[in-house]
Amino acid sequence: MQIKIIDKKFNQIKADWELIIIKDGNLKHGFVKDTKLLKELGFKGKSEEAIELNEKKKIYIGVKDFSNFELKLAGAALARMLKARQARSAKIALYFDNDFIAGTKGLVYGLLLGTYSFTRYKSKVDKKPGISLAISTENYNNHKVDLRELKAIIQETKVIVDAVNFTRNAVNLTPTDLNPLTFAKMAKELAKTNGLSATVYGKDYLKKNGMGAMLAVSQASQYPPQLIHLKYKGKDPKIKICLVGKGLTYDTGGLSLKPGEGMMTMKMDMGGAGAVIGAMKAVSELKLNIELEAILGAVENAIGKDAYKPDDVLTAKNKKTIEVKNTDAEGRLVLADCLCYAQEQNPDYIVDIATLTGACMVALGEYTSGLMGYNDELKHSLAKAAERGGELAGILPFNKYLEKHLKSEVADISNLSDSKYGGAITAALFLGAFIEDKYKERWAHIDIAGPAYKGKPWGENPFGASGAGVRILVEWIKELV
Ligand code: BES
Ligand code: ZN
Ligand code: ZN
Repeated sequence: MQIKIIDKKFNQIKADWELIIIKDGNLKHGFVKDTKLLKELGFKGKSEEAIELNEKKKIYIGVKDFSNFELKLAGAALARMLKARQARSAKIALYFDNDFIAGTKGLVYGLLLGTYSFTRYKSKVDKKPGISLAISTENYNNHKVDLRELKAIIQETKVIVDAVNFTRNAVNLTPTDLNPLTFAKMAKELAKTNGLSATVYGKDYLKKNGMGAMLAVSQASQYPPQLIHLKYKGKDPKIKICLVGKGLTYDTGGLSLKPGEGMMTMKMDMGGAGAVIGAMKAVSELKLNIELEAILGAVENAIGKDAYKPDDVLTAKNKKTIEVKNTDAEGRLVLADCLCYAQEQNPDYIVDIATLTGACMVALGEYTSGLMGYNDELKHSLAKAAERGGELAGILPFNKYLEKHLKSEVADISNLSDSKYGGAITAALFLGAFIEDKYKERWAHIDIAGPAYKGKPWGENPFGASGAGVRILVEWIKELV
């Protein structure tokens, strides 16, 4: 979909289709010219209720309010309806009460993210014509709109949407097409196009540097582990951030093998690293004034004669020993080493992101990412960033009792909690054990196991990969600079 802003009244713009948003059932508004007909058809204009007036080529859709979230849902539904009708051109006005930025961004996020589809593995693809969408500067409340600000918001939203779609594309690739080696290649290509520096370390580096946890997870795979380190530096940065991503290009569970149904979709287990690389793309294209580094642990958790075993004891980069009780709790092992590596880069903050636990979905539901860490302010700033980006995120609190469940009789820590409850938090507490005291307040963890991938479209997200986390990270970083 191509979006263009037209500084004209809604009625003065020519387009095949007209899109009108109804706020909480209010049909008494200048944009609504079909009140009688809509009433006859039983249209109430409630949230997510849409109606098409075919002969008039109009689509009306309801929202509860002009929040970022509601407008995003409306935008996505409208974009999908246009696509299904093979529309070529359409027009829409602006909808906001006081918060021009939140409303506009919500609508544009929905419109642009809603039409993504992944067709790479289809032998026949119907090429649908592109849609040209005109956005009128006229708005629901007749507020004056600053044209330059509007253009800037839309431009920025487009960049972030491209990054989300970049992540979606990567996560949707098969585990054969996207393995640790091809993932590293993709990262290097992005680095080249976007002027980032890229260094990729293999098995020998990990061995030499004592990264025994990440190495162990990779042992049975035909692909060597790849520690990918990308760097971006703005003009005059005052702050340095390290983003760390779990990059399991496939998670069979290892010898603690996943059952067939649980293994399906585990190509998404690099969704955290995918989100980090997407954020890197957006931040470098927006030329934000920050130093941003991406550290991706790209590994495949396979089975075979070389596989690491439950009962093995591993030594991480910081010399801590880990008793392996379950080889399916592998993400935390890879991240433990990557987090040690990240702390050596001396950033101001470290945020890791991972499809870490099924338990996070049990805790928050399958659409919400979990935010964890020792610093309340940092978690809240990530929660706010999620809201601005139209993602769902909730804070899961740490406590001392849960920490005790990671005790090991044979090593310094166990990779599995001895309680079946609070698995998202105990996984994060495991990561916390690899964060030095001086970094405890400067680290946060995002568990995207739920929203990263779905077997059905939801909101602005398609079947498959959603690109979860990209908007959280970029919106958070934008506030820091
Ligand atoms: N990659 C999975 C977590 C996951 C599950 C992501 C479902 C997305 C959807 C992770 O490596 C894993 O297997 N976690 C185990 C941990 C357990 C063994 C403590 C889990 O969640 O069951
Ligand atoms: Zn696993
Ligand atoms: Zn995993």
